[in-house]
Amino acid sequence: ADSYDEECDYLFKAVLIGDSAVGKSNLLSRFSRDEFRLDSKPTIGVEFAYRNIRVGDKLIKAQIWDTAGQERFRAITSSYYRGALGALLVYDITRRATFDNVKKWLRELREFGSSDMVVVLVGNKSDIGHSREVEEEDGKNLAETEALYFMETSALENLNVEEAFMQMIGRIH
Ligand code: GTP
Ligand code: MG
Repeated sequence: ADSYDEECDYLFKAVLIGDSAVGKSNLLSRFSRDEFRLDSKPTIGVEFAYRNIRVGDKLIKAQIWDTAGQERFRAITSSYYRGALGALLVYDITRRATFDNVKKWLRELREFGSSDMVVVLVGNKSDIGHSREVEEEDGKNLAETEALYFMETSALENLNVEEAFMQMIGRIH
């Protein structure tokens, strides 16, 4: 992948936002390195990952900012969104509160983010459907109301992870 660097046609920035422990860091490690950890630690401040992606005949270098869900670990929020063209807004389908908070994350995103950002609403942890507290239909409906794209994923089982990122990346530009 590193050999692509010199011939990259575009560089773009995207952000991962949502409550703590919804699985943002594991979605990103799955997407960028095909790794998953059951014992991952909360993100402090912000972490980054890159991945080069071919879209049509163009090579895109995606720089993805993985932000802290915990308020006390968040740094300067406005810098997260500056220049970002896309966002994955993640909730946990087994914790209703993380879905109710999507509205709060949308307010922040609309305050600090650019109005033409491509936003995908992501319901993560679809592998533990027996503890589901948010129906897929609820996610779909909210996405429709708020004009977002939508997908349920599992970072653990690697379900729809690539698709969720590609839905965002493919719609930028
Ligand atoms: P903050 O950094 O605090 O904002 O949290 P985060 O959203 O980055 O969550 P993280 O990726 O660290 O995951 C939190 C916990 O959920 C970890 O124990 C993960 O192993 C677990 N987890 C993440 N994704 C999945 C998933 O798809 N399925 C299951 N079953 N567990 C997951
Ligand atoms: Mg994290």
